[in-house]
Amino acid sequence: MCGIVGYVGSRNVTNVLVQGLKCLEYRGYDSAGLAIRNNKELKIIKSVGKIKNLEEKVKGIDGDYNSGIGHTRWATHGEVNELNCHPHSNTNVTLVHNGIIENFRELRKELELIGYSFKTDTDSEIIAALIDSYKGSKYDALIYAQIKLKGSYALAIMFEDEKDVLYAMRKDSPLIVGIGNNENFLASDISVILPYTKKYIDIEEGEVVKVTKDNVIVYNETGKVIKDVRVANWTVEDAQKNGYEHFMLKEMNEQIDLCTKLYNKFIENDNYSKDIPDISQYDKIDIVACGSAYYAGCVGKYLIEKYVCDGSMQVNVEVASEYRYKHHFYTSSSLLIVISQSGETADTLACLRMANKLNVDTLAIVNIPSSSIAKEAKMVMPMLAGPEIAVATTKGYFTQVLELSLIIQKLCYIKGIIDESSKNNLISEFFSLKDKITSLYDLDYSIVANKVYDKEHIYFIGRCMDYVLGMEASLKLKEISYIHSDIYPAGELKHGPIALIENETPVFCILTEKEIFDKSLSNAIEAKSRGATLYLITTDEFEFDQDYFEYVITLPKVNDFYQAVVNIIPFQFIAYETAKKKGCDIDKPKNLAKSVTVE
Ligand code: G6P
Repeated sequence: MCGIVGYVGSRNVTNVLVQGLKCLEYRGYDSAGLAIRNNKELKIIKSVGKIKNLEEKVKGIDGDYNSGIGHTRWATHGEVNELNCHPHSNTNVTLVHNGIIENFRELRKELELIGYSFKTDTDSEIIAALIDSYKGSKYDALIYAQIKLKGSYALAIMFEDEKDVLYAMRKDSPLIVGIGNNENFLASDISVILPYTKKYIDIEEGEVVKVTKDNVIVYNETGKVIKDVRVANWTVEDAQKNGYEHFMLKEMNEQIDLCTKLYNKFIENDNYSKDIPDISQYDKIDIVACGSAYYAGCVGKYLIEKYVCDGSMQVNVEVASEYRYKHHFYTSSSLLIVISQSGETADTLACLRMANKLNVDTLAIVNIPSSSIAKEAKMVMPMLAGPEIAVATTKGYFTQVLELSLIIQKLCYIKGIIDESSKNNLISEFFSLKDKITSLYDLDYSIVANKVYDKEHIYFIGRCMDYVLGMEASLKLKEISYIHSDIYPAGELKHGPIALIENETPVFCILTEKEIFDKSLSNAIEAKSRGATLYLITTDEFEFDQDYFEYVITLPKVNDFYQAVVNIIPFQFIAYETAKKKGCDIDKPKNLAKSVTVE
């Protein structure tokens, strides 16, 4: 939802800003712009479309600029055009904004009454005028703006009358300050600063940051604040494609090593480590998230219900944008688990805050350590997935499911549902999971992609775990290939969806669960008898008549606690190969943004 970068120092400012925006392009790619400052002028350059259009436009600008701010936009207020593209200026103030100002119409009227006029349809231009309207110090003007603004914002700000100084503040949208040597940065995420420095400081709500090339001063209402300098443990390579054609492909491949990374972090002396949260004291668990993280939560609910079947635990999973508007009856033994790769998803964050306010225990499974969700949850299980750049998540979902599995394994072990020997088996299977999934990377998924890429509708069917896993499989396909796809519980097919089956409609049948294999197979055959072309994803433990199926992908059978992470891999590749065959923009699908910081 928009990316921000800022720089003060002696490098070529335009280059630093454009490279930074490229790292942030996953956050929005409707249009991009920058404002750069030298001794004579503050110059604004904007361009509609991808960052490469802006890059073309700024070619040839020489290096005598010492500071600047840049922005990549995912439009929320006002159509996509150069006028609405950031930076926005009003009188003495130029700024870039990520977030949404809810009371911008009232503020606009108030400001018009005192003589301000506006050129754009954006909420962001109002902020520039609001800051300008305050007659007092810059610090007081920014605090005044914080009081007046309702909604979310990360802001990088330049004043016409003060050169080579950037100001920044944030509320519910991410922004960090990168600390360099005689140079400093502002950025929506750490990946921007990695080529220059690993040191950064977090900006908290209510703080105002003043950045020059050799100083970063942070104030809040009590005065100057001493901040901890953090050190990022990501490398530049983590945030680059490293020879892969797409970030999505790179991130799918990283899942192999993530197995080892998570094993090393969460298994200690052949036991579940203390870093896996113990949730055994809770009897009511709500799991809340958005998008793929919600689908990961569905796998978690399924596992709890399957294994903790003594009635001692009730589990509910819900999308955050619904959960936050409902009544909840928490008890002293309730736990809210929020799942989020970015740690900034607005609705998920709102649910976390709601529970925190009610003093309900909260646990976050989250990837970005400096994110609001990571900072505000009472307990955190870090995802350790490294930067995920492709908009459609792969390694993020994979890690979330694997971590939920570990939490539930530990829960079952503590509750005595899993005995010592089963626990040892699960841990040794975790150790060998890497090898199991590696075999899936050698299959040729383009065979399936070539058969389905020109279809309008694709359906998925499965039961139980296969059904919840299929939700993510179906989402992945539609997100990046734009083919309409839906998942149905296999038994529901005949209650309506079968009416949609036409001649050669592809149906992906996910049949990896022993107890229900035959039932789901019958449902698949029902679809075939109405004309469907069947694709089977199954494990190596079943015998069946291959003739029913156009193509069969056979997965290794692993313990149910790991089956979902194995099963998702072919679907990631099928979505990837199908989108590639269709020539889609795989890493930046249309209309989507990676980090959804609006409600
Ligand atoms: C967006 C992304 C999805 C992601 C969802 C939740 O919709 O495109 O890939 O699953 O947000 O994001 P989060 O960062 O909270 O996991």
